[in-house]
Amino acid sequence: MKSGSSLAVAICCAAATTTLAVPVGFSGVVTTIKSLGILTVILENCDYILRAVAGQENLLREMELCFRSLLRITNSTILLFFLVSCFSFTSTDAYDALDPNGNITIKWDVISWTPDGYVAVVTMFNFQQYRHIQAPGWTLGWTWAKKEVIWSMMGGQTTEQGDCSRFKGNIPHCCKKDPTVVDLLPGTPYNQQIANCCKGGVINSWGQDPSNAASSFQLSVGAAGTTNKTVRVPKNFTLKAPGPGYTCGPAKIVKPTKFVTQDGRRVTQAMMTWNVTCTYSQFLAQKTPTCCVSLSSFYNDTIVPCPTCTCGCQNNLTQPGSCVDPNSPYLASVVSDHGKSNSLAPLVQCTSHMCPIRVHWHVKLNYKDYWRVKVTITNFNYRMNYTLWNLVVQHPNFDNLTQIFSFNYKPLTPYQNINDTAMLWGVKFYNDLLMQAGPLGNVQSELLFQKDKSTFTFEKGWAFPRRIYFNGDNCVMPPPDTYPYLPNASLRKNVPMLMLTITLLFLSAFHFA
Ligand SMILES: *[C@@H]1O[C@H](CO)[C@@H](O)[C@H](O)[C@H]1NC(C)=O
Ligand SMILES: *[C@@H]1O[C@H](CO)[C@@H](O)[C@H](O)[C@H]1NC(C)=O
Ligand SMILES: *[C@@H]1O[C@H](CO)[C@@H](O)[C@H](O)[C@H]1NC(C)=O
Ligand SMILES: *[C@@H]1O[C@H](CO)[C@@H](O)[C@H](O)[C@H]1NC(C)=O
Ligand SMILES: *[C@@H]1O[C@H](CO)[C@@H](O)[C@H](O)[C@H]1NC(C)=O
Ligand SMILES: *[C@@H]1O[C@H](CO)[C@@H](O)[C@H](O)[C@H]1NC(C)=O
Ligand SMILES: *[C@@H]1O[C@H](CO)[C@@H](O)[C@H](O)[C@H]1NC(C)=O
Ligand SMILES: *[C@@H]1O[C@H](CO)[C@@H](O)[C@H](O)[C@H]1NC(C)=O
Ligand SMILES: *[C@@H]1O[C@H](CO)[C@@H](O)[C@H](O)[C@H]1NC(C)=O
Ligand SMILES: *[C@@H]1O[C@H](CO)[C@@H](O)[C@H](O)[C@H]1NC(C)=O
Ligand SMILES: *[C@@H]1O[C@H](CO)[C@@H](O)[C@H](O)[C@H]1NC(C)=O
Repeated sequence: MKSGSSLAVAICCAAATTTLAVPVGFSGVVTTIKSLGILTVILENCDYILRAVAGQENLLREMELCFRSLLRITNSTILLFFLVSCFSFTSTDAYDALDPNGNITIKWDVISWTPDGYVAVVTMFNFQQYRHIQAPGWTLGWTWAKKEVIWSMMGGQTTEQGDCSRFKGNIPHCCKKDPTVVDLLPGTPYNQQIANCCKGGVINSWGQDPSNAASSFQLSVGAAGTTNKTVRVPKNFTLKAPGPGYTCGPAKIVKPTKFVTQDGRRVTQAMMTWNVTCTYSQFLAQKTPTCCVSLSSFYNDTIVPCPTCTCGCQNNLTQPGSCVDPNSPYLASVVSDHGKSNSLAPLVQCTSHMCPIRVHWHVKLNYKDYWRVKVTITNFNYRMNYTLWNLVVQHPNFDNLTQIFSFNYKPLTPYQNINDTAMLWGVKFYNDLLMQAGPLGNVQSELLFQKDKSTFTFEKGWAFPRRIYFNGDNCVMPPPDTYPYLPNASLRKNVPMLMLTITLLFLSAFHFA
């Protein structure tokens, strides 16, 4: 079943690619290079579709997209549309092909029963490879099934108490039907802490630092059931991190968690446990891009900048002060003024792309058996020091990465046989903090790849990355037809190949006639 459907998609993609080749090829030598760039992109997206199919999700949607594009392929306008939709579903898809099992699991362990309810420890595990939760941290909400109240909490607090007027004497911590919980801040008194709490809601990702990928709080619930038969699990869990993006499933009662004491000599267990799984979707998050990619190479002087207006446009008339000129004598006062307004919206340096983050990929050197790339991440945001930043980069040569300088590296291989994706992040106490915009606002690294003679080439932009994420957000790449190319080389080499394809097609047409 699985291999059958991926085969179907593979055929569809192959057909789409060859069908596209003909009209594009005929439109003249001038556009040949452009179209070759486009073909590479289609092939890349086929690869993407195949990956998604390997995860067995959104299959129907992708098949439909693929077939629809096949049907309309003769019209070049629609061809463009196909490309655009292929691009947009890489950035808006609910399903992340590079981390197909990524989720945040919320586990409720009922530790003990009380006269009118129970005490529970709630732990969130961030099982995502590279998407972490940054300041100002998570907020977790749910709806009680009955008339439960929260008597007290440790390691977390609800944002609102709600209407507790029906209580006399002991007043609960929260009486709301739909409480919202946030983490406590670092520096909370020890008697209000529990393990894994009080990090201001920041959770690292499983791929980057599993020892800091969990967050817990404890709550004492009243007016609830007091046996595992009468307790009702809460409903409608919502996780904000801090904006939208996560969708949580229903709570499922699972086998009670077993706790091993520190000396490992005794095992205790929860009275009852339920799990909630939340998954991330870029589509739901509906973020404007926050990051873009620029490219350069030793073999061509052109520096391909980030696409203009990637994250916004400079607009002096309607939004004066939407960005900051780094040469302005008032820079310091503008930045500190905005700091006081306590807003989280980025305050960016004025650039043509207006993105808070730019990733630059420079193809630096060519050796006989190796080639070298320099990667620079620049922070243009005056309002953010990125702690725990990470970068996910997809390039077919990552299976032969030989050396990486001053970044940590971990291969991401959700589909065992494809090893083309790397997660990169800073070295602790050296460059794990990406400082706010300014002279210190950048980090850089060099990557040394061994050439695989059968695939390696500087042509057709092969040396540039296929996809880059910064902190889990897709970075916008320049259009492929603007990539720096080898002087004259692509024209000379590829025309015969296209002509061959066209000739073959003609021949087969005559054959059938
Ligand atoms: C494609 O379709 C559009 C509108 O349907 C039309 O205006 C355009 O001329 C067509 N292009 C070609 C190459 O047929
Ligand atoms: C959540 O992630 C964990 C770790 O990757 C995985 O074992 C588990 O199956 C995932 N849960 C769901 C519902 O996908
Ligand atoms: C409740 O507890 C009883 C024994 O105490 C156990 O047999 C039963 O499986 C538990 N039910 C649930 C839903 O955990
Ligand atoms: C679930 O929560 C959301 C937001 O808190 C709310 O809009 C929605 O109505 C709730 N649904 C149910 C069934 O309670
Ligand atoms: C529930 O969540 C915990 C913690 O993530 C995990 O160890 C356990 O396997 C999960 N149980 C099920 C049935 O998914
Ligand atoms: C906006 O203002 C800056 C300086 O104040 C100027 O350099 C820039 O060209 C202006 N941009 C537009 C689009 O007018
Ligand atoms: C970033 O860190 C530097 C040095 O620790 C500090 O001076 C600056 O205020 C921080 N900026 C922000 C936006 O937090
Ligand atoms: C992927 O390639 C890298 C670099 O050669 C290697 O270190 C790593 O072990 C490979 N991973 C897998 C799962 O093959
Ligand atoms: C590149 O990596 C692949 C898979 O890890 C390996 O089979 C191949 O021999 C490597 N090529 C070179 C030139 O090292
Ligand atoms: C460098 O690449 C650009 C495309 O980005 C191209 O226009 C230019 O002609 C190339 N330069 C040389 C010397 O080939
Ligand atoms: C490449 O093109 C330039 C002009 O665009 C020309 O001067 C040069 O001779 C060409 N080189 C080769 C090897 O064809």
